[in-house]
Amino acid sequence: MTLPPSLPALFRVLLRLLLIQGVALGIKITNLEVPTPLAVGEGGWLLCEWEDEGDHVYALKWYVGGEEFYRWTPLETPAVKTFMSSHFVVDSRESQRGRVRIRNVTVSAGGKYRCEISGEAPKFKTSFATADMMVVDLPDSQPRLVGGDAGPYQLHQVVTINCSSHDALPAPTLTFYINDQPVDPEWEDNDQVILNETSGLETSHKSLHFKLRPSMVSEGLLQVKCVASYPDLYWDSSDITFRVLSGHGSGFPLGSQEFVLQGDAGRPQASLHHFPLFLIALVFFR
Ligand SMILES: *[C@@H]1O[C@H](CO)[C@@H](O)[C@H](O)[C@H]1NC(C)=O
Ligand SMILES: *[C@@H]1O[C@H](CO)[C@@H](O)[C@H](O)[C@H]1NC(C)=O
Ligand SMILES: *[C@@H]1O[C@H](CO)[C@@H](O)[C@H](O)[C@H]1NC(C)=O
Repeated sequence: MTLPPSLPALFRVLLRLLLIQGVALGIKITNLEVPTPLAVGEGGWLLCEWEDEGDHVYALKWYVGGEEFYRWTPLETPAVKTFMSSHFVVDSRESQRGRVRIRNVTVSAGGKYRCEISGEAPKFKTSFATADMMVVDLPDSQPRLVGGDAGPYQLHQVVTINCSSHDALPAPTLTFYINDQPVDPEWEDNDQVILNETSGLETSHKSLHFKLRPSMVSEGLLQVKCVASYPDLYWDSSDITFRVLSGHGSGFPLGSQEFVLQGDAGRPQASLHHFPLFLIALVFFR
């Protein structure tokens, strides 16, 4: 290679070194995306984008946990190859270049994803990038609420309510609300998570203890709600409405039930339209 003689000598030497060493050549990964979090059974697009810095792609490979599941070799026919994976189905018709469509993930699909791009012969200079994907096995049903002692409740009485969410991985976070307001954290026990060794799934439990105060009761009623959630993925709740006696039964209609369970444990609650993924979860878990 001839360099223009006008370049300062030192610069010419450096430039020649760079070209010979191939330092300026290579492929730089500019963007890596994996869909996260996903629920078991869902899918999405993996994306690996790059800039050629004077080199061309010889092979682009996707791995999860060291296992290759996709390869794109533009000079070969077919250019796209997919490998059987126990973690998901790779859609080879929709996938091309660094964009890969996966479907029906299992819980084992969670982990570190790696995109590796190698340049052309003779150096096959390789770049890679990694990203984490989280996969959640959602609870089988909405959280269950269990009231400590049946009513009628009196003002200033201490009430204990337990909430649990069953057979998920990892267990969701449980949060209590009284009349749709977050509760004082001192009234809650920390989440307790119990692993079922047979199924490998977790159940979370939380207890709420509080003293019934007049400010909590509106028209003789008080609602306790428990929400099970994963950020950006899933939300579901159950609630119970109690009737509270304001004192010695006064103001309480004769013949009506003093203790009313309005929370129907078999029915999803109203706020689901904020959480379209819940519908997907329903489809997969009913
Ligand atoms: C999704 O994967 C699970 C577990 O591998 C399998 O039992 C199920 O049939 C698959 N569903 C579809 C729609 O491919
Ligand atoms: C509520 O949970 C606590 C602590 O886990 C337990 O001791 C208690 O028996 C539970 N009460 C009911 C009614 O399930
Ligand atoms: C644990 O899981 C197994 C298999 O799914 C189930 O049969 C068993 O009842 C579960 N045990 C408990 C304590 O929930």
